[in-house]
Amino acid sequence: MTPHAPRVFSGMQPTGNLTLGNYLGALRNFVALQEDDTFAERLYCVVDLHAITVAQDPDALRTAIREVAAAYIASGLDPKRSIVFNQSRVSAHAELGWIFTCVARMGWVKRMTQFKEKAGKDREEASVGLFSYPTLMAADILAYRATHVPVGEDQKQHLELTRDIAAKFNHDYGNPEDERGFFPLPEPLIQPETARIMSLRNGENKMSKSDPSDMSRINLTDTKNVIAQKIKKAKTDPEPLPSEAEGMIARPEARNLVGIYAALADMSVDRVLAEYGGQGFGAFKPALADLTVEKIAPIGDEMRRLMETPDEIDAILADGAGRAAALARPVLREVYDTLGLTGGGTA
Ligand code: TYM
Repeated sequence: MTPHAPRVFSGMQPTGNLTLGNYLGALRNFVALQEDDTFAERLYCVVDLHAITVAQDPDALRTAIREVAAAYIASGLDPKRSIVFNQSRVSAHAELGWIFTCVARMGWVKRMTQFKEKAGKDREEASVGLFSYPTLMAADILAYRATHVPVGEDQKQHLELTRDIAAKFNHDYGNPEDERGFFPLPEPLIQPETARIMSLRNGENKMSKSDPSDMSRINLTDTKNVIAQKIKKAKTDPEPLPSEAEGMIARPEARNLVGIYAALADMSVDRVLAEYGGQGFGAFKPALADLTVEKIAPIGDEMRRLMETPDEIDAILADGAGRAAALARPVLREVYDTLGLTGGGTA
């Protein structure tokens, strides 16, 4: 048996502004993978069905879906070389998602830290969808038998659950003679340097689009002035930068800002510190602000340009969905047959 063909899948939620964290932790890697010939297909999804696990305004959601697609394209994804689409256009996600809610065990899903964070104190009021969210995520990936998933650190636990679901399905329904298994066990692709970009207001918290303070994050659509202001106001400490990375172990804000600089400049942290070690934030912040403006502002400009022609974005999403559905259809057909659901599925 030949192993499962290497295939990339990843997604982002259309729930408000994408941030520098989304960009450095994931999106930039989506673009880099376009140059990697190991993979025959790369699918990048706007996961709109995941977005409705919490309340969404329909008009705002419509715009947010297009905005994430615009961010993908503005960052360098080529919709010819990658498959760019939104989840709700391909019914295989919802269909396989249901099947996986019947494969995953309550105990596995209950362990998910993101549910605990997102549901907050009033867990009884959270939607059932928010709880079963990771089973739909497993379906996103496995509907294509994707083998590699570029994500930030916060998605690692969901990827482990995806692997558990795939392994249980393989064990329960797979052909024992097929060593590669019905589904591959997908690998997360996490870039250690940018796995967790932190808030600009508190270096212990992840940079997040849901943080109540807009000053905590750089949005991809922020103007040059806003980007520069946010970096200028970013929390720091009074010490100068050290000349070696060990000197930042107990300095989360310094570590975060130097890490962002290194990622945007494509430099190692050591090289950044060789240049700025011994200098205070008064010298470092303007350099970081200039670099962030240089790298991020053009993405926002391009997103605004693309958003002027929503029909063109919709056409890209429709084309991508057609190509994605063609890949998922035979997998779903096989899943239904395997389960004994004769003739099931429309995907
Ligand atoms: P989402 O929409 O929260 O985030 C999209 C991607 O951005 C990464 N990310 C970060 N990386 C580094 N530092 C940060 N501060 C930061 N904030 C966000 C996330 O790790 C993610 O890779 N459940 C997913 C969406 C999803 C998905 C999938 C991903 C649904 N189905 C299938 C991969 C494969 C999510 O909520 O990501």
